[in-house]
Formats: sequence, structure tokens, C-alpha cells
Amino acid sequence: MSTEQFEQTLVLIKPDALKNSLTGYVLSLLSEFHTGLRFAGAKIVHVSKMLAEEHYAEHRGKVFYPSLIDYIMGRLHYPDLPHKRRVIAFVYQGPDATQKMRDICGPTNPHVARETRPGCVRSLGTIVPIKDAEGKIIGDRMDNLIHASATDAEAEREIKLWFQPVDIPPAMRAYPTEINEEHYYCKDSKLFVTQESGSVSLLAPGDIAWKSDLDTLRLLHKGESAPQTLEAVAAKYLINVAQEAN
Ligand code: CDP
Ligand code: MG
Repeated sequence: MSTEQFEQTLVLIKPDALKNSLTGYVLSLLSEFHTGLRFAGAKIVHVSKMLAEEHYAEHRGKVFYPSLIDYIMGRLHYPDLPHKRRVIAFVYQGPDATQKMRDICGPTNPHVARETRPGCVRSLGTIVPIKDAEGKIIGDRMDNLIHASATDAEAEREIKLWFQPVDIPPAMRAYPTEINEEHYYCKDSKLFVTQESGSVSLLAPGDIAWKSDLDTLRLLHKGESAPQTLEAVAAKYLINVAQEAN
């Protein structure tokens, strides 16, 4: 099969879309009939702070960043209902996957989306003022219902952040995998190769992992600098493992 058939992109149905029961409508717009793209992976994710911060790492330090983290974690749309805080994550596969999804989503800003691309998914979004502790408006947050990777490089990083290889059928995996031969555990953002009290298992011998994750873990274990942080690897293996405190 040609390599363009293997192009993949990440799509997230954000908490505002779930709260407004728009999931089915949005997925219809993204269907294979309309886009020529196929599902390669799907999961319901309770988004941890670690995952939220890794996903939006490029926006760290911006005015809207703290509010964006609360938004993607579902805290803003379900302040009193932690069990409803979730996003639905999809990998879509097929020719021009990234560009096609971005087109259907439309512009980031819902007001611009309504003006320039009426009918796109984000034209159904809204803009919410961000206030400081005193209630003064310090910026805006864009609640725009959907995330789609902006570039192929971003798609690879994001798919590997949200999905383990075993979440994707073997014949549909687009990135190199490797069988792990070590024990890896995580506790307080530190890496261990033996179990410590309170540590959580990331990978055990025989598990299939992204090759890039194993390269990172091997370097971090040797105390060397690695292309990714431990959090960027650990966040995925800890998806839906434990409920965080509010
Ligand atoms: O999602 P997209 O790649 O189109 O936009 P982005 O610039 O990477 O920003 C990520 C997300 O942050 C957006 O989808 C918005 O939800 C939010 N955002 C915001 O609230 N205010 C901004 N000025 C820019 C982005
Ligand atoms: Mg972006």
C-alpha cells in the first residue's frame, strides 16, 4: 500500500463538545464518506494534568495556558462531576489526513470560524473571558469543540502521546515499535527500573512500545539527556490508571 494510505492524525473531541452532546454530529462530519479517512484508534480518556501539560506544551507561559489546561481536563465544563471529565481521542488514517481534518475543524477562533467558514466544526464554538483572582478580565479562552493535529510532525508526537501501539491494530501502526526488555516504573516524576513503594508500572518485559519511547527511557535511565521528557513518555502509560485528586 502507498505510504499516503498510512498518513495519520490525532483528533480530540473536547469536553465542551461532549457536554453539548455534539460528538455524534462532529463524527458524522469526519466520516470516511466525507473525508476518505479511517479510524485507526479510539479511546475515552480522563485527562491528567501531566497529559494536558504535555499535549499543550507549546503554549506554556501564555495568558490562556492555565485556563486551557483546566478546559482540556474537563474541570471547566464539569466542575462538580469529575466522573464526566473526559475527552474522546481518535487516530484517523488515510491520504492527506492532517490537512483534511484541519479543514473540517476550521479556524481556531470560533468567531473567525463563523465569519470565514460557516458550517465548519469550530463555528459552533464559543469564546469565554478569562478572569484573574480579583475578577478582572485578563484574556479570552477559545472553546472550540475539537483538536486536530496541525502538522504531520505534530500528529506523530500527539498520536504517540495519547496512544500505545496496542491501541492501534498492528497493520495500521504508522510509527516504529519495539518489544521492551526492561521493567520501567515511575514515581514523583522519577524513573525506576525496580519497583519502589508507591511507584506505578509503565512498561514490563514483553510489552510493545513506541521505539522512540524506549530510546528515551534508556537514555534517561543512564542519566543522559533525551529527546523527550519522562512525562511525555509516562503520561500515556498512566492514561486511565488512577483518578487524580481535584
Ligand atoms: O487548536 P489549534 O492548533 O487550532 O490552536 P492553537 O493555537 O494550537 O491553540 C490550542 C488551543 O488553545 C486552541 O484550540 C484553543 O482552544 C486554545 N486557545 C485559546 O484559548 N486562546 C488563544 N488565544 C489561542 C488558543
Ligand atoms: Mg495547535
